[in-house]
Amino acid sequence: MTDAPHAQETTPDPTELARTAEQVAREAGDLVRDALRGSVTVAATKSSGVDLVTEVDEAAEALIRRRLAELRPTDGVLGEEEGRQEGSSGLVWVVDPIDGTTNFVYGLPSYSVSIAVARSQGPDPFGWPLLAGAVHAPATGETWTAALGQGAFAEGERLTIPEPVALGTALVGTGFAYTEQRRRGQARVLGEVLPRVRDIRRLGSAAVDLCLVAEGKLDVFYEQYLNPWDMAAGALVVTEAGGVVERLGRDGTEGVTVAGPRPLVEAVSAIVRPLVG
Ligand code: IPD
Ligand code: CA
Ligand code: CA
Repeated sequence: MTDAPHAQETTPDPTELARTAEQVAREAGDLVRDALRGSVTVAATKSSGVDLVTEVDEAAEALIRRRLAELRPTDGVLGEEEGRQEGSSGLVWVVDPIDGTTNFVYGLPSYSVSIAVARSQGPDPFGWPLLAGAVHAPATGETWTAALGQGAFAEGERLTIPEPVALGTALVGTGFAYTEQRRRGQARVLGEVLPRVRDIRRLGSAAVDLCLVAEGKLDVFYEQYLNPWDMAAGALVVTEAGGVVERLGRDGTEGVTVAGPRPLVEAVSAIVRPLVG
């Protein structure tokens, strides 16, 4: 089975897709939260010795895949832990079972289940048009959803990204990759951003960071080396709240994501772009 466009069915209502994303994210969130009552075993490390994956990440993704197979049997799935499974509908679910695994392992609250659905157009997941998404943070109970053309919501309340502040008074979210070489480059970029802004927050879940931008709890966010599953749902929350999400520099995971109100995205991009070309 392939994601061939000729096999595409009528696109379902984005609001319905957002409901499905939210329902499955909450179910996976329950599994993740309940797992904290036992001891969490680190199953492996990934890109480097500090990049953790637990048995709970794997179990949560398995639950999400099982539920999506029941609810949306002809759609594909791209998930962090198990990779790509083709579908026949032309839609693909982009899944991070735990975004912020380091926080999860340390008992810090900023981690989330991130589930988005997109049209699988072309080989580049960063270019897939997003239809709906949900980010659920089991430790705090917060849930953000978005549906294409239908807005972004936090607990049923519609989100509108606030008017931008000046860069010098902006609270800026960011994050870091797991390898030494990438972090050296990120530290150089941080060295140029930090002196020019109110302050920096590295909260530990890019999906949550993007939703906080949509809520105005962070003014703007940037990060290099995100994967599609880190940002798909959160990016739609930002754009449906009236913000913009730009990609700078190289293609694919080498690129830099910048999200927020347009003037702040432009101001941050002007600093970051020359450093990441
Ligand atoms: C990570 C988180 C973190 C970001 C990293 C991601 P993971 O995801 O989103 O905030 O800075 O780049 O890899 O590994 O916890 O799923
Ligand atoms: Ca992630
Ligand atoms: Ca993850």
